[in-house]
Amino acid sequence: MTIHYSQNTLKPFVNDLKSEGKKVGFVPTMGALHKGHLSLVKNAMTDNDIVIVSIFVNPTQFDNATDLQKYPRTLEADVALLKTLGNNVFVYAPSVEDIYNSDVNSEKFSFDGLEFEMEGKFRTGHFDGVGTIVKRLFEIIVPDNAYFGEKDFQQLMIVKKLASKYKLPVNVVGCEIFREASGLAMSSRNQRLSKEAKEESAFIYKTLLKAKEKFGTKSANTVKEWVQQQFEKHPLLTLEYVEIANSKNLKTVQRKSKNETYRIFIAAFIENIRLIDNIALN
Ligand code: PAJ
Repeated sequence: MTIHYSQNTLKPFVNDLKSEGKKVGFVPTMGALHKGHLSLVKNAMTDNDIVIVSIFVNPTQFDNATDLQKYPRTLEADVALLKTLGNNVFVYAPSVEDIYNSDVNSEKFSFDGLEFEMEGKFRTGHFDGVGTIVKRLFEIIVPDNAYFGEKDFQQLMIVKKLASKYKLPVNVVGCEIFREASGLAMSSRNQRLSKEAKEESAFIYKTLLKAKEKFGTKSANTVKEWVQQQFEKHPLLTLEYVEIANSKNLKTVQRKSKNETYRIFIAAFIENIRLIDNIALN
């Protein structure tokens, strides 16, 4: 498998394929690949002739230096996993300099308010960092289709907004959350959990499912309070936030309406590791 470490080799490589009329799919990742990432790559393989997977731990989207430093980096294993999928998958694993030169800073974005909700409230500058890297990667690769997981639902919406605001010629495709048998959403951060913590973290999804049931008959605020109480009783997990939001604009639900769709979002810590998850409520 070809691995490109620099845009100087990647760009002509992709341009050649495009001039042959090949459709290019793109899956941006930060590596430490798991089955969730692979499900995105498989979707991309179905819709496109070739797939580029970027593996880059983007420093500007981390609001916490320890989290950045401890983020797992497993390029060799990642490449081995991608190889098992087929020979039309290629890796772009740039250095920080290749993306940022010497200016490792975010551009500032407005995503029409999406950036002020949930993750935006708790992770200062996070979405400016995501916007910066995704825009640069889109400009380097110019993919026909790009694949993002609903695991990071707010990120998916922000990337769609980015593409439409900047008129980037890419179709952004959302993909379902891939889960462990326990229900825990797969995440690169799960690798850092002890066995016990990993088992206990399935509580997040179980609580989301029960909340969904309650949302049929109860108000959004009642359901959120119920979720908070469940986490208060849990010995290992600490809730950072629970939010029930309109799926279109991510605004907090005040009163339910039959014509709208809603999702519930949770961020929680266990062993100092931050996990997020969400599900559709209707
Ligand atoms: P990363 O966390 O590596 O995730 C890469 C992509 O995989 C994202 O679109 C994410 O939503 C998706 N993903 C992760 N876990 C998933 C799961 N269990 N099921 C389905 N999809 C899943 O998200 C990022 O990297 C970065 O912010 C990035 C977009 C690469 C920009 O740096």
